[in-house]
Amino acid sequence: MPELRFDNQVVVITGAGAGLGKAYATFFASRGAKVVVNDLGGSGKGEGRSSKVADVVVAEIIAAGGKAVANYDSVEDGARIIQTAIDTFGRIDVLINNAGILRDVSFKNMTDKDWDLIMAVHVRGTYKCTKAAWHHFKRQKYGRIINTSSASGLFGNFGQTNYCAAKLGLVGFTKTLALEGKKYNILANVLAPGAGSRLTATVMPPEIVKSMDPNWVVPIVAILVHGSNMQETGSIFEAAAGHFSKIRWERSEGALMNPREGFTPGAVLRNWSKIVNFEEGVEHPKGVSDSMGNLERAMILSENVAGEELRFDGKVVLV
Ligand code: NAI
Repeated sequence: MPELRFDNQVVVITGAGAGLGKAYATFFASRGAKVVVNDLGGSGKGEGRSSKVADVVVAEIIAAGGKAVANYDSVEDGARIIQTAIDTFGRIDVLINNAGILRDVSFKNMTDKDWDLIMAVHVRGTYKCTKAAWHHFKRQKYGRIINTSSASGLFGNFGQTNYCAAKLGLVGFTKTLALEGKKYNILANVLAPGAGSRLTATVMPPEIVKSMDPNWVVPIVAILVHGSNMQETGSIFEAAAGHFSKIRWERSEGALMNPREGFTPGAVLRNWSKIVNFEEGVEHPKGVSDSMGNLERAMILSENVAGEELRFDGKVVLV
């Protein structure tokens, strides 16, 4: 069976000195890519710095016959990271925004520093690296981006208001990059991974950490950033413990209010069971324009308050 190869491709991976980033770096190098191994080398809480972790990964890749260069900048200095790719390998094809830290604390005890550092690394760091790569991608009409979210961001998690806000923020960021990048063949997707690592060792029992190999997350990232992926963009994928899935939004059919009933809390409450019902009539909106159907119906209703029966898309909307 032929391998999925990345020969002559330049892949930049942030936070590639450990955990998931290291797994990506060694994989892409083993499949022919030239890899920028970025890692600030600080603590899991974002303190200190060291060149060691990035150097170790680069040495491993070179010893295995691959090509890699280390970069020790913080993702907040994204331009320097991308410049390392340009100076060393002359281009950039793939950007995997993966660097991350945790500063878990209940909201009551959260300090501005806990909030700001998480935003700086996850949101601003992802923005700065992407911003620096974007004009290269646009000029060459090719680019593949993975931004790293988290189940915590998608669903919320105790003690992580800062991290969850940042991680869900990256979903909106990526979905918009996907819209703006499509015509330049720049595709951007979100990954919510699960793997045993220094970060998860602080929140998961040791046997679970051991059984979730970061290498098991790699295949879906490889598929999404490969040149053969021409369509999948703006999507959210989960990958953990050998399970891969896609996440999407779901909207209840809801209730279209009758202006004659009045837009009062009481009128909304009378329709509550319809508003929160996901058993039937659900939609899976893909963009802001998918809300326009309701807007049109609302306009018809407001123009025809006196009408006895109105139809929209063949359905009676007001009787
Ligand atoms: P890890 O701690 O093993 O690796 C993260 C790496 O990022 C570290 O080597 C660290 O030095 C580096 N880093 C941190 N701040 C940096 C900065 N400002 N600039 C450059 N490098 C920096 O963590 P893990 O688990 O591999 O996490 C990777 C990503 O996946 C993170 O974004 C994390 O939030 C996310 N994630 C991980 C999950 C898991 O189950 N491991 C679950 C959900 C999300």
